[in-house]
Amino acid sequence: MARKLSTRKRPKREDKQLKEKKKIESEVFDRYSMLILGGFLNKKVIRSVDYPIASGKEAIVFRATAGEKFKGEGEHIAIKIYKIETSNFSRMQSYIRGDPRFLSVGGVKRGIIFAWCRKEFRNLQICKDAEVPAPIPYFFKDNVLLMQFLGEEGIPDSLLVDVGSDNPEKDCNTLLGYVRKLYGKGFVHADISEFNILMHGDVPYLIDIGQGVLLDHPKAEEFMRRDVENILRYFRKYGIEKNAEEVIRWVKSA
Ligand SMILES: Nc1ncnc2c1ncn2[C@@H]1O[C@H](COP(=O)(O)OP(=O)(O)O)[C@@H](O)[C@H]1O
Ligand SMILES: [Mg+2]
Repeated sequence: MARKLSTRKRPKREDKQLKEKKKIESEVFDRYSMLILGGFLNKKVIRSVDYPIASGKEAIVFRATAGEKFKGEGEHIAIKIYKIETSNFSRMQSYIRGDPRFLSVGGVKRGIIFAWCRKEFRNLQICKDAEVPAPIPYFFKDNVLLMQFLGEEGIPDSLLVDVGSDNPEKDCNTLLGYVRKLYGKGFVHADISEFNILMHGDVPYLIDIGQGVLLDHPKAEEFMRRDVENILRYFRKYGIEKNAEEVIRWVKSA
């Protein structure tokens, strides 16, 4: 009897609704990430998850309110959740699932995402040690990263691309200085652009640093060049002209 019930085909309409509901849920969080957040709530590291600040293809960033057991600074915490269910990868997975040759792919994908999250945590620590402004990393578990919330009075800071620079000469030099300082510590951000810089008051902060590499990476120098060129390209519209090759030489002399 039970078997019969469980194999009974649902009416089409309900099927569609269920699919839609599942889609919306997975857009916000997948079940797995929800359990991890539940853990942080239970341990009173966070008191609440307040609202999504931004949602991209690979990750979603929330503002959360710190709980009583949280020993860091500030009332708020930024939580970055790397999406497990909703990347292109998961569309691929739906083709692969059920094929016995690919039984372990789900695990591989998770592994890659978890490694990415762990790498972002470590990379943020490198910035902290180098005293380059970036969110202070607090904790991570699997695909969930807790870090310093960058904002003022609970309102998240804006990206450089949205607010622009009030002092382009200074901001340009500051950012090139970050590249040099990190290079000197053996590290390259590898995705610096006006889309990954938050203006915290008048101090630019580097964010989104999961792809950062150590200098022994074969493309480290190429990535550093690209970071420098992105900064110079952005500030060129403010009339700032610097010779990229000279800047790169200066970075490498760190
Ligand atoms: N620590 C933070 N404090 C406040 N806002 C943040 C923080 N980190 C990220 N954000 C916001 O979330 C957005 C997405 O974060 P990011 O790390 O760039 O992820 P993505 O991989 O989706 O680009 C950012 O553009 C920024 O607006
Ligand atoms: Mg980004």
